[in-house]
Formats: sequence, C-alpha cells, structure tokens
Amino acid sequence: MLGNFSYHNATKLYFGEDSLQYLKQELPKYGNNVVLIYGGGSIKKNGIYDQVIAILKESGKNIAEDAGVMPNPTADKLREGVKIAKAHHADLLLAVGGGSCCDYAKAVSVSVHCDEDPWDKYYARFEEPDCEIVPVGCILTMAGTGSEMNGGAVITNHDTKQKIGHVFGEEVMPKFSILNPRFTMSLPKRQMVAGIYDIFNHICEQYFSGEDDNVSDDLAEALMKSVIRNALVAVDDPENYEARSNIMWAATWALNTLISRGKTTDWMVHMLGQAAGAYTDATHGMTLSAVSLPYYRCIMPYGLPKFRKFAVDVWGVIPAGKTDQEIAREGLAALENWMKKIGVAMKLSELGATEEMIEGIADATLILDGGYKVLDRGEIVRILKESL
Ligand code: NZQ
Ligand code: ZN
Repeated sequence: MLGNFSYHNATKLYFGEDSLQYLKQELPKYGNNVVLIYGGGSIKKNGIYDQVIAILKESGKNIAEDAGVMPNPTADKLREGVKIAKAHHADLLLAVGGGSCCDYAKAVSVSVHCDEDPWDKYYARFEEPDCEIVPVGCILTMAGTGSEMNGGAVITNHDTKQKIGHVFGEEVMPKFSILNPRFTMSLPKRQMVAGIYDIFNHICEQYFSGEDDNVSDDLAEALMKSVIRNALVAVDDPENYEARSNIMWAATWALNTLISRGKTTDWMVHMLGQAAGAYTDATHGMTLSAVSLPYYRCIMPYGLPKFRKFAVDVWGVIPAGKTDQEIAREGLAALENWMKKIGVAMKLSELGATEEMIEGIADATLILDGGYKVLDRGEIVRILKESL
C-alpha cells in the first residue's frame, strides 16, 4: 500500500541533442548578472564552454566565472563561491558540469543572501533557508547524481572529515536543466561507470525498504533493468547514443523524488560511501560500489522477501526448487557479476582507504533507520572491514 504524499517537481527539463538552444529561451526570465559555475576544465576541452558563453553573450548577459569546482565540492570552495556571487549581485547561477557543479550551485544559491557560515547553517545544524534564494540552472555533462532535478547539495568538509548532503525543498531545485547526452560522451570511462553505479544505487536505496506492493517499486524495477542493459552496451560502445541517452534519462528519474513517493527508503549505502568519501575524496559512485555487497549481504536476512523479488524480477533468477535465501543470494551474485563487468571499484582499498581509517569512517557514518536493519556500530565496522 502506498502511504500518503504530495508530489511536485519544480525543474523544467530540456532533453536531447538540440537542448542547449533552449538556454536562449530561459535566460530572459532572469536578471542580467549570471555566474557561470564550472569544474576543472573539461568543458573547455570539449567545447561546451564556448557554446554556453556564446549564448550568454548573445543574450546580453553580464558574466562572472566561478571555476574550479572540484569533484566532491568543499566547504571552503562554497565560501569562495558565495563571495563571487555576492560581488556580482548574481541573478542566476548557471552550473555547467556534473553533480558536483549542480550541487555546489544550489549550496551557493541558499547562502548568497545569508550572513551565517553556510557549512554551519546547512550542514552542521541542518537549518532550512530563510533568506532570498538565487535561482539555479544546470547544463549537465555527466549522468549520475540526479542533481539536475532534485534539491540535493552534498558538501565535503576536509577540516571535520565529513561529507554531508542537505536535501533542500523545491524552491532550491534547479529552475531548469539542459540534458544533452552528447555532452556526456567526453567522460572518461571510469567516470561514466561511476555515474552508472550511482544511478543504480539510488534506485536500490529507495527499493530496499518496506514490503508493500506499490507502484514506486515497480517503477524502480523498470529503471534498474534499463540501467543494467544500457550500461553493458555503453561500456562496450561508449559512443552509443541510444545507450547514453537512456542512461542519462534513467539517472534523472532515479533521484528526482518520484520513486520514493508513498514508501520508506534506506540510503545506508550512501551513508557508508559518503563517510568513506570524506576520508579518501574518492569518486562518489565508486565509494558506493565498494561498500554495497557487504552491506546488502548483512541486511539480506532482514529483508528476505524483497531481496528474493529483486533476484527474480530484476535479474531473472529462476526460483523453482530453491529456498528464498538461495534465490536472494543468486540475485546479489548477479549484481556482483554485473558490477565486475562494467568495471566499478569492488573494494575501498582500491580508493585509498586503509585499515587505520576504519574507526574514523565508522564514526562519520550517519545511521538511518529506514532500511531492513538499523545497523549497530559493530555491524558498520564489520561491513567496512569486509569492503576493504
Ligand atoms: O571538473 P570537470 O573538469 O568538469 O571534470 C569532471 C570531474 O572531474 C568530470 N566530467 C564531468 N563531465 C564531463 C567530465 N569530464 C569529461 N567530459 C565530461 N562531459 O567528471 C568528474 C566528476 O564530476 P562530478 O560532477 O564530481 O561527478 P558526479 O556527477 O558524480 O557528482 C558527484 C557529486 O555529487 C554528489 C556526490 O556526493 C558528489 O559530491 N551527489 C549528489 C546527489 C544529489 N544532488 O542528489 C546525490 C548523489 O548521491 C551524490 O551524493
Ligand atoms: Zn549517489
């Protein structure tokens, strides 16, 4: 049974090979001062920067640049971004990049007109914005996080060794996002598969909770099957537009608030992965892949019917003559096999984590209670050790 809910998604999307041209239609809705937010320079190499600048100039915009947003954007960079946006009297924050740029733009957007330190306000005290919010637009160059159509903004603090996500409300979601699958084609393969695993795990995080028959889980299964199939095509043939466009659209639906409607959710893989990320600064999707199997094997006995359903419905495991446990185990083995085929990290040690970090990562892991088992500290340490 579905629980009660409301649903509204505030982001307007433009999808496809010609989607950038719609930037011209969006820009007149905002004032003249635009801050162009981007990362370490990939958009200059692949030509997206030149295309965006040309449209901004044609539209008569007054542009300030906020470059160098790193993967896993930091609290220090956020403070710098707030200064740039303030000095420019920003009317629009235009993020061009992956989830890091989109997340960062949202974090800047709620902090420009706020006097307090953004980390303290939103990530230490988890307060909601109470100051004017600067609108955000995204031009996405990497499929994975779903940041293009949600209110999430994950920030890393190297001083406190924390990586924390604040999920803001619809007023902070991008006003518009432009998704051209061609823009993702220049991604190195490792980043592409990290994004793919991130998508898959977002779906799992919402699926592995609750036992009800509900349409949200049915949608989740359809998305999982599409990601599994298209990932295998894209890994063999990264230029395959059909696969890359399906992956990009699946990423948006995996985390645009739809498939969690009316049900509980888990998110413990992300809590473990983010804590590991705070210690290693590793690629987000890879931190998730490294902890997933030890975590799912730990909680499987507590959510056996769902793990059985996952095996049969998503992986096509034939149930005849097998116990529920055997079926569920076969499902996780199929997941492991697929993860190895696409080439994600299977161990935290591949990402620079060491035995000495385990206690600290365990301390940094937020324990949530929406999954099949509320983990205790001993279980967290055991999962992390198995992931090493
Ligand atoms: O910095 P540039 O030069 O742009 O290079 C980036 C970066 O090095 C590169 N890249 C992106 N598009 C490219 C490209 N390189 C070549 N061609 C392209 N077209 O890829 C690298 C990774 O980019 P990044 O934006 O960091 O990756 P991703 O999209 O995975 O974002 C990760 C961040 O999002 C957060 C993560 O924790 C992490 O901080 N998340 C946000 C979520 C949300 N808003 O809901 C949920 C997620 O679970 C996640 O936590
Ligand atoms: Zn994620």
